[in-house]
Amino acid sequence: MILYFSGCGNSRYVAEELARLLDTKLFPILAPPLQDDGTLPLAEGETLGIVCPIYAWDVPRLVRDAVQRLHFAVKPAYCFLACTCGDTAGAVDKHFAKLLQTKGLHLDSVFSFVMPETYVNLPGFNLDSPESERRKIAVVRERLPEVARRIASREQVVDMKAGAMPALKSGLVNNMFYSMLITDKKFHVDDNCISCGKCAEVCQLHNIVMHDGRPHWQRHCTNCMACYHYCPKNAIHFGKATRGKGQYYFGHKDSQS
Ligand SMILES: Cc1cc2nc3c(=O)[nH]c(=O)nc-3n(C[C@H](O)[C@H](O)[C@H](O)COP(=O)(O)O)c2cc1C
Ligand code: SF4
Ligand code: SF4
Repeated sequence: MILYFSGCGNSRYVAEELARLLDTKLFPILAPPLQDDGTLPLAEGETLGIVCPIYAWDVPRLVRDAVQRLHFAVKPAYCFLACTCGDTAGAVDKHFAKLLQTKGLHLDSVFSFVMPETYVNLPGFNLDSPESERRKIAVVRERLPEVARRIASREQVVDMKAGAMPALKSGLVNNMFYSMLITDKKFHVDDNCISCGKCAEVCQLHNIVMHDGRPHWQRHCTNCMACYHYCPKNAIHFGKATRGKGQYYFGHKDSQS
């Protein structure tokens, strides 16, 4: 079984491909299947995979919280984490192993996939060029069957790009990022908005309500940026930081050719 979270589709693509290649079921981690006793319906000897993006060199906190809520009648025989990131994943392997330990589980393997960037909320943080998008996706597409093979043969492996100073980034910097930068107070919408409601529809946290034809953010945002990237009129802005930066989501017309 694979449980996944994805804001802009990169991790959903990886999760869907791994589920297909491993011939296993796929569920959103925010709505996992539960048995009557509240436990995850795992069979004896089954593998559990978690697929999600990297936010500030760790798994998103909503993924961490969702894992903490899981209960197991049967423990998975093998656990893997596959995360997508724009560049580097920090010490996510060590942090996630500790998290699983609190559930009595062992993290057997970790893979990171470098995918197109979705974070544009600060000056200097930009999208990939269309060429870079295509290249990153092509590399991942090519690598997925090999990763699936390694998971199927239950390798104990950490195959990820940690980057410089992983402990600092996944620790102190992650804490600062969440306390200072994860906010929806800076979202606003311009006159190009056509009141289509797409932003509210794609928000998996139900953080957007439409009122008088305009989106209103409800203060429980994880900054996944789906509302911003999927808006058909590019009418959503995050302060001044996103001005002129464009949009990306997996499967948009330019990334697949
Ligand atoms: C809030 C936020 C924080 C991010 N932090 C990192 C990071 O620390 N390192 C990195 O390489 N990419 C980072 N990214 C980029 C995403 O991890 C990457 O684009 C990912 O593939 C997005 O997955 P998704 O399309 O499934 O949402 C961040 C993106 C967001 C929205
Ligand atoms: S997706 Fe864009 S155009 Fe549609 S309602 Fe939201 S802000 Fe307006
Ligand atoms: S409101 Fe926040 S959580 Fe919802 S789609 Fe937008 S960025 Fe993601």
